[in-house]
Amino acid sequence: MTDILDARWPAVDSANPGGADATWWRQAAVYQIYPRSFADSNGDGIGDLPGITAKVPYLRRLGIDAVWLSPFYPSALADGGYDVDDYRDVDPKLGTLQDFDAMVTALHEAGIKLIVDIVPNHTSDRHEWFKAALAAPKGSAERDRYIFRDGLGDNGEQPPADWQSIFGGPAWEPVGDGQWYMHHFATEQPDLNWKNQEVRSDFLKTLRFWSDRGVDGFRVDVAHGCAKELPEVLPSQAELDAMENADGTHPLWDRDEVHEIYAQWREVFNEYDPPRTAVAEAWVPTPQRRHRYASAEGLGQAFNFDLLEADFEADQFREIISSNLGQAKEAGSSTTWVFSNHDVVRHATRYGLPPRGGAGTKQGTDWLLSGGTVPQLDAETGLRRARAATLLMLALPGSAYLYQGEELGLNEVADIPEAERQDPSFFRNPGKDIGRDGCRVPLPWTSAGPSFGFSDTTSHLPQPAWFGDYSVEREDADPTSTLAFYRQALALRGTLQTDEELEWIDAGSTDVLHYRRPNGWESVTNFSTRSRPLPEGEVLAASSPLGDGTLPAETTVWLKR
Ligand code: NOJ
Ligand code: CA
Repeated sequence: MTDILDARWPAVDSANPGGADATWWRQAAVYQIYPRSFADSNGDGIGDLPGITAKVPYLRRLGIDAVWLSPFYPSALADGGYDVDDYRDVDPKLGTLQDFDAMVTALHEAGIKLIVDIVPNHTSDRHEWFKAALAAPKGSAERDRYIFRDGLGDNGEQPPADWQSIFGGPAWEPVGDGQWYMHHFATEQPDLNWKNQEVRSDFLKTLRFWSDRGVDGFRVDVAHGCAKELPEVLPSQAELDAMENADGTHPLWDRDEVHEIYAQWREVFNEYDPPRTAVAEAWVPTPQRRHRYASAEGLGQAFNFDLLEADFEADQFREIISSNLGQAKEAGSSTTWVFSNHDVVRHATRYGLPPRGGAGTKQGTDWLLSGGTVPQLDAETGLRRARAATLLMLALPGSAYLYQGEELGLNEVADIPEAERQDPSFFRNPGKDIGRDGCRVPLPWTSAGPSFGFSDTTSHLPQPAWFGDYSVEREDADPTSTLAFYRQALALRGTLQTDEELEWIDAGSTDVLHYRRPNGWESVTNFSTRSRPLPEGEVLAASSPLGDGTLPAETTVWLKR
């Protein structure tokens, strides 16, 4: 293990800690940190930036290439930090700008790049612009930075339209003088008006601010939502829903002119050496639309959530892999792969739940709504499949995005008491949506002690007793643990990653996926519940213990021939 790590991490050039390779992002393994739940350094129960700095040796040993840091900006946490009060500062609950600089230095010295989240679709309602907009009259320059409209009715007492927010509940909020503002997400997240030049130039300033501090790239939140074109007479929600939005003309989503914004951003990214990178969060209807965000004149890369949405099923995986690799090639980009993030039920849990409506339907996360112990969860199956899917993914061309805790095989926490929940999507959808807190519970670093080593005190979201079984301390000591498995796979990936080509090999069975990379590295996944013959070759890694020359059920193996 030491040899592999040493080969992988050459001494870092401190004069150029980000590294000069302009293509590093194309096949990077990127680890997402949700900072408030990673590690707490000062005993207030909230994870912070010095907590991350202290864990850099852990990240280095894990073998990732980059960290994607979810928002760490000042925020009232109406939406987990995606409600930003000030884009050019650090939340005092998480540290200071000096702490940020120290974290960047420590990451770079360990050979790890840093991508930060940027949230351009909306600010928080505590942002100085929004406070100024509320204090200013209708028609003012201050209101023009947001999306204000007169209400309907004699005194504007009714909303301008019946639009629903993505988190549930109305998308228009009154401000008391007959005007209303629009918010796609929580009430505390007013949408910005990207036709406003000051909004545009201020974000360029923000991109430079963090790039100058050594940030290597940006993850762009709701990238497909920034450009809007609201007609004089607003359509109803039903009319919006019925609109074809694959042609760039929907009033709210994925409009063609959104790319003008990112072309300007690209000019800023290219002022740096190496150019800063970006990855778009863009939920758009077709891969063709997605890859517009990933063009070299735009953000460069876009999230592909297709595997995250798929069942553990060979045909679905094969089709998704082939089509995304093809599309990314056409766009001149590389694709991304992701199974878990801070918005979805952890994949070890998804794969252990019964399908919602029988074979062929998506894993039913609504089982989680029942709360309690989730009796439907088959944790063993879930973890076996999650490890198999992850090993398959880590051998693919493109970037692999990992979410903190998946390297421990953590499950979703379904039974957080209502009084302790934080996610607005839980409160805005009573009885319908369990929300996203269950994947944001602070990490267990030790097997016992207050908040399992996350903090000296109780963590800001409660951890269940079983978290200790998944602790870093316990898994560190167990060579068969999921943590040991991730470390081994990531270290190998670092030495094996090659040209972005993949060749399918006929496995002679529809439920086995077998592919080869140009240097002879092969990945074989048995999606079935029966063992299959193990192809010939030197076994480099396996997601489950291999027995007697066969490939066990729901298992991936890496081979070299
Ligand atoms: C996407 C982020 O991933 C999610 O956590 C957030 O709630 C919304 N964008 C709104 O910013
Ligand atoms: Ca703290």
